Amino acid sequence: MVIAIINQKGGVSKTTTAAALGAGLTLRGYKVLLVDLDAQGNLSYSLGAEESNFTTIDVLTKKVKAADVIQHLEQGDLLPTSPELALADKLLGDTGKEYRLKEALKPVKGNYDYIIIDTPPALGVLTVNALTACNGVIIPAQADVFSLQGISQLYATISAVKQYTNPSLKVMGLLLTRFSGRAVLSKNIAGVMEQTAKELDTKLFNTTIREGIAIKEAQISRQSIFEYAPKSNTAQDYSDFIDELIQG
Ligand SMILES: Nc1ncnc2c1ncn2[C@@H]1O[C@H](COP(=O)(O)OP(=O)(O)OP(=O)(O)O)[C@@H](O)[C@H]1O
Ligand SMILES: [Mg+2]
Repeated sequence: MVIAIINQKGGVSKTTTAAALGAGLTLRGYKVLLVDLDAQGNLSYSLGAEESNFTTIDVLTKKVKAADVIQHLEQGDLLPTSPELALADKLLGDTGKEYRLKEALKPVKGNYDYIIIDTPPALGVLTVNALTACNGVIIPAQADVFSLQGISQLYATISAVKQYTNPSLKVMGLLLTRFSGRAVLSKNIAGVMEQTAKELDTKLFNTTIREGIAIKEAQISRQSIFEYAPKSNTAQDYSDFIDELIQG
């Protein structure tokens, strides 16, 4: 199962969700590969990636095989990124550029139960590569109205990918993140999100991820949330989310 975490809006917990999924699924005994498809490298950083000569961009440009770039870290297996990935639009050329990640993952796919792809806050060639390579998409979104504005644009991209490069792509659902349930506003937004999900022919996951300080501390100390603060709200919420995800 290949899952892409997508939202072109910045700071909505894509990377946090990718890392938590990776750690939580690994704890449950699954073999997981995390793919950092963002030049910012937040996922690579929070997993404690080692410096390396080759990264995702070299895999996408077919300079090296994915298997030679994957790092086996304490938090799990990672295909790390580097700032050069920002040049992907220029470096990938035209023919078949949407399929590069899918092709690159093919030889290693059999080694994993789950491959989780973290994507940049943009709807460019990298996001299209992720959408083409995956079976399912999770859309994290924050409880604010601007978070919702971009979702119809995101859906246009998803529809195009379904039409041209990945007909069986499934939107698994919208995940409400950084939720502060006490605010009346957040509650209203949750209702609006549910409606948005329906209109887009997907669902709002039952689990919402609450806002909590532990996640930032975990990221700074380069530990997973389950390792750093297993009793925190965030760890509990992500654990519930993984259960919900596995149960389908
Ligand atoms: N549940 C949470 N509680 C508190 N802070 C959170 C939570 N989830 C994420 N954050 C913080 O919010 C910020 C953005 O999160 P994250 O980097 O995961 O978003 P992103 O969507 O990957 O951003 P980008 O679009 O820049 O890649 C980070 O500083 C992260 O520590
Ligand atoms: Mg990110």
